Amino acid sequence: MLENKEGQAVPSVVFKTRQGDTWADISSDDIFKGKTVVLFALPGAFTPTCSSTHLPRYNELAPVFTKEGVDSIVCLSVNDAFVMNAWSADQHAENITFIPDGNGDFSQGMGMLVDKLDLGFGKRSWRYSMLVKDGTIEKMFIEPNKPGDPFEVSDADTMLNYINASAELPKRVTLFSKPGCPHCSRAKVALTEKQYKYEEITLGDNGISYSSLTAVTGQGTTPQVFIDGKHIGTADDLEKWLATN
Ligand code: BEZ
Repeated sequence: MLENKEGQAVPSVVFKTRQGDTWADISSDDIFKGKTVVLFALPGAFTPTCSSTHLPRYNELAPVFTKEGVDSIVCLSVNDAFVMNAWSADQHAENITFIPDGNGDFSQGMGMLVDKLDLGFGKRSWRYSMLVKDGTIEKMFIEPNKPGDPFEVSDADTMLNYINASAELPKRVTLFSKPGCPHCSRAKVALTEKQYKYEEITLGDNGISYSSLTAVTGQGTTPQVFIDGKHIGTADDLEKWLATN
């Protein structure tokens, strides 16, 4: 179980995907032939670790993977095409190709199909990642064979570190905003002009109020911007920071 398959070819299977309102078969060759692909596999769409951490970080680092010569990043799960498409829409992970391995054929061929009967999940993929070049597996990061759902090595940073340990990571930008706030729009334009992606926390959404803004930033006005965890401040503060960084 959980055999390392470095040096071997990926399993040759056909995936049943949905594109618009029709079924579309996608083969292993379609995904891997002549391409450099990073694939990460996980136990289920919409599950907490997968949705909050595993998938978003691959999406965030996708431009860096592209710079490093990776043609596509594939997220594979033993779920059907409808579920994978719904998860893709929910995640806004535009840099990731979602592949439904509904029958588990690919996962079985990889030796990664495991029982998750205790959770009512049936058979699912073990969590792992791999770098595949022209259909041959160059590197695998397989989560350790421990009870539960370990998540220690199949993450995006570990894979990127393998590909190029000195690749420059994008800065993590978070912006507190409020609907209709012109200074928030100014801050977002300034970030976009400098090609910074940002995560936006909008007051009024999901029950987020001034109470959280004040608790986190110590300020009562929007926007409030953080870069790599450091509090930058308002739109004016951000513009000053961008001018010197
Ligand atoms: C999770 O991603 O957190 C998760 C995955 C499988 C089962 C339960 C939780």
